[in-house]
Amino acid sequence: MTYSKQQSFIDKETDFGPDNYKPIPVVLSKAKGVWVWDVDGNKYLDMMSAYSAVSHGHSHPELLKVLHKQSSQLALTSRAFYTDTLGPYLETITSLSNFDMALPMNSGAEAVETAIKAARRWGYRSKNIETDKAEIIVADGNFHGRTTTIVSFSSEPNSKDDFGPLTPGFISVEFGSAKAIEKAINKNTAAVLIEPIQGEGGIIVPPENYLSDVREICTQKNVLMILDEVQSGLGRTGKMFAFQHSDIQPDGLILGKALGGGFMPVSCFLSSSEVMQWLTPGSHGSTFGGNPLAAAIAKRALELLDEEGLIENSRVLGEYFKNAFIEMKSNVITDVRGKGLWIGVEIDPSYISGKELSMLLLKKGILSKETHETVIRFAPPLIITKEDIDWAVNIIKETLDEIVLEK
Ligand SMILES: Cc1ncc(COP(=O)(O)O)c(C=O)c1O
Repeated sequence: MTYSKQQSFIDKETDFGPDNYKPIPVVLSKAKGVWVWDVDGNKYLDMMSAYSAVSHGHSHPELLKVLHKQSSQLALTSRAFYTDTLGPYLETITSLSNFDMALPMNSGAEAVETAIKAARRWGYRSKNIETDKAEIIVADGNFHGRTTTIVSFSSEPNSKDDFGPLTPGFISVEFGSAKAIEKAINKNTAAVLIEPIQGEGGIIVPPENYLSDVREICTQKNVLMILDEVQSGLGRTGKMFAFQHSDIQPDGLILGKALGGGFMPVSCFLSSSEVMQWLTPGSHGSTFGGNPLAAAIAKRALELLDEEGLIENSRVLGEYFKNAFIEMKSNVITDVRGKGLWIGVEIDPSYISGKELSMLLLKKGILSKETHETVIRFAPPLIITKEDIDWAVNIIKETLDEIVLEK
């Protein structure tokens, strides 16, 4: 592989942008399906999918058609007017998720903020919690985004240090323990807000009964159960929603990432009309949320998940891929976690760090990224084929074998 053109682009990003990311040093300029190319023409298999936002693959032809058609017809109006795209999109997303209503936003963090505001309003107006006393229970190790309120309940010091004063009203308890949630609930608790599988936390899968136990507790105590499926939703875990592995229905659901079909930021908060009734005119909104282009793309992106069998592909190939890691029996691997095409491989840091391993894989044509020091995430577009996975498995195995030999 040659890398002659890359450095000048890297230099420009670092010279003119702050250092709030530490990207893998590769400069991408083209993508199609599961493959991406850098500016020097080197080709890579995308095992990151933009943190699961590119589940449909890069530049999905059907979505590209929608993008062209809708953007040449009507792209942006603001919510000051009705459009002929938003209603049909809301109808599609609510019916397939079994919620009464959806409130459209753009980024995942905005949809989480929406959920927090909706839960607090519901807490004050339906549950009669005393003014400004509402509490939301969250889980240690969570990741829900980067706004000031959201980082207020992060467990990651670097996400919140010196960004204060932080927003009060959040109680963080052990992830995976329904008992810890039950203990933390009091008369001021409006909601429990958790990820069904913690993504940025390291692909942490909770115990089997966690979600159903939390569901039961929330129902008993009149507390909203809100799930953040920005990353786990829309087929990533081998079901449309990760909560469907537990056969429950939450009271609120947050979606994002893949909802934009790999083209644009589209997110939403879904809930019952009982919760949504309190979001009255002027109380919440977004200039871009639910714009005609986003609505048209999101509607088609949702339909394609089913039409093209992407959820089933995630389930079947996810299992296949996960087993391939287990069968490698490499000393470098200490744990393999995840559901569907969302796999976290824990590596022994005495051999190599997550970052170093993703650098080795980069040189062999695989794009991946560590989450925390010791976990590498493999989350390819859901359109990936068995042949592509076999190709990647061979390379990963060869790389791990070399690491063991060199130690
Ligand atoms: C579970 C979860 N919630 C929220 C977010 C924030 O989404 P965004 O980066 O679009 O604001 C993320 C992003 O990784 C996420 O994984």
